[in-house]
Amino acid sequence: MRTVWTFHSAGQLVFGRNAAKQLGDITTRLDARRVLIVTDPILVKVGLADSIREPLAAAGLSLEIFPGGEPEPSMRAAEACVAMARQFKPDALVGLGGGSNMDLAKISATLLAHGGGPRDYVGDDKIPGPIAPLICVPTTAGTGSEVSAASVLTDTDNKIKVGVLSNYLRPRVAVVDPLLTVSCPPKVTADSGIDALTHAIEAYTAVDNATFPLPSGERSVYQGKHPMGDCLAEKAIALIGQHLRQAVRRADDLDAREGMALGATLAGMAFSNVGVAVVHALEYPVGGATHCSHGAGNGLLLPYVMRFNLTARPAEFAAIARLLGEDVTGLDERLAAERAISAVEKLRTDIGVPTRLRDLGVREEQLRPFADKAFGIKRILRVNPRPVTAEDLEGILRAAF
Ligand SMILES: NC(=O)c1ccc[n+]([C@@H]2O[C@H](COP(=O)([O-])OP(=O)(O)OC[C@H]3O[C@@H](n4cnc5c(N)ncnc54)[C@H](O)[C@@H]3O)[C@@H](O)[C@H]2O)c1
Ligand SMILES: [Fe+2]
Repeated sequence: MRTVWTFHSAGQLVFGRNAAKQLGDITTRLDARRVLIVTDPILVKVGLADSIREPLAAAGLSLEIFPGGEPEPSMRAAEACVAMARQFKPDALVGLGGGSNMDLAKISATLLAHGGGPRDYVGDDKIPGPIAPLICVPTTAGTGSEVSAASVLTDTDNKIKVGVLSNYLRPRVAVVDPLLTVSCPPKVTADSGIDALTHAIEAYTAVDNATFPLPSGERSVYQGKHPMGDCLAEKAIALIGQHLRQAVRRADDLDAREGMALGATLAGMAFSNVGVAVVHALEYPVGGATHCSHGAGNGLLLPYVMRFNLTARPAEFAAIARLLGEDVTGLDERLAAERAISAVEKLRTDIGVPTRLRDLGVREEQLRPFADKAFGIKRILRVNPRPVTAEDLEGILRAAF
C-alpha cells in the first residue's frame, strides 16, 4: 500500500492576459543570452512568433527561430530542431505553440543536454539529468505540456505516437497568456479543448495512488489519483464545461479564452502527476494511423472509455456530471454518473468533434491491431481505474467504430 504522493509542475507559472510581454525579464532571470524559439510556419504567419520575439529582443537577447514545427511532431522534426540548436548553441529554448511545438522544444532541450536521438529517451524516466533551460508558451488551451513531464512524438516508421516521460521535461517557466490563443481556428480550439477535458477526467477517475499497480523496480512519473490532482481536475472540468463551447463559437471572447487557458493548465498539472489512461492509450495507435489530431481522437474515444470505466468510479462520474453543470438532483449515483457521459457526448457534438472511428477513415480490420498496440502501453494502462485486457480495448474500439 502506497501512502506517499508527490506533486511536480513547471518551476514557475506566469499566467494572464499579456503575460508574454514579460518574456524578456523572465528569460534574463534564467541568465540566458542566446535563445532559440521553437515554433511552426503557421504561428510565424499569424504573427505570434513576432509577438514573442519583440519582448525578447527588447531585453537584448540574441535570437534564432526554428520554424520547422509540425502537428504531432515526428522524430525527424526533433532531429532537425536539435541540429539547429547545436549550431546556434542557445542557453535557453522557448517552445511557442500548441503541444506539438512545446513537445518538440522539450525533446530538443533533452538532446542538446544529453546527446543521442529521440528514441533513446522514449519511455518512463529515461532522461539522466536536467535538460537545457526551457520556457514554454502555449498558443492552444489544451495539452498542458507547459507544465507536464511529457513530450509526445510520432514514430512514423511504426505508425504510433510515443511518449518520453520524465520530471526533467517540466519547463523551468510556463508563460500562459490567453491572448495567444485568440487566433486558434475553431477546430484547433475544439480539439485541444476536449483534450484538456480528457486529461482532467482521466486524472479524476484514475486508480487510487494507494493501490497504483507499479511493478517493483519500475519507476513512473504517474502515481494514480491523489488529493492535489483531484483539486486541480475538479476546477479544470468546471472551467472547461463553462467555457469551451463559447471559445469555439466566439474566438475573441476573452473571458472564455482565459477560462480555457486556466482549465487546460490545471488539467495539465493534474494528469502529469496522476496519469492519463485508456483514452490516451487508444488514441496513440488511432492517431498514428489516421493522423487525426490528438484532441479529436481523444474526444471521440472519451465517452466510450467513460462507459467502460463507469462501474469502477460511480461517485467520481456523478461528481463530473455536477461539475459539467448537469442537474442530478434526486438521481441515484449510477444515473447521475451516466449523466457525465451524456454531458460529454453533447459537448463533443456541440463543438464538432467526430463521434465515430469510421469518420476518421478507420477500417474495421484495423481495430484489433489498434487494441494490441494500445495494450502494449503499460505505463498509462496501469493508471486506469479498471484493469483492461486487449479484448476489452477491442470492445471499446468496436463500440466507437
Ligand atoms: N506533452 C504533453 O503533456 C502532451 C499532452 C497532450 C497532448 N500532447 C501532444 O500535443 C500535440 C497536440 O497539441 P495541440 O492540441 O496543442 O495542437 P498542435 O500543437 O498540434 O497545433 C495544431 C495546429 O494549430 C496551429 N495553432 C496552434 N496555436 C495556434 C494559434 N494560436 N493560432 C493559430 N493556429 C494555431 C498549429 O500551428 C497547428 O497547425 C499532440 O502531438 C499531442 O500528442 C502532449
Ligand atoms: Fe492529451
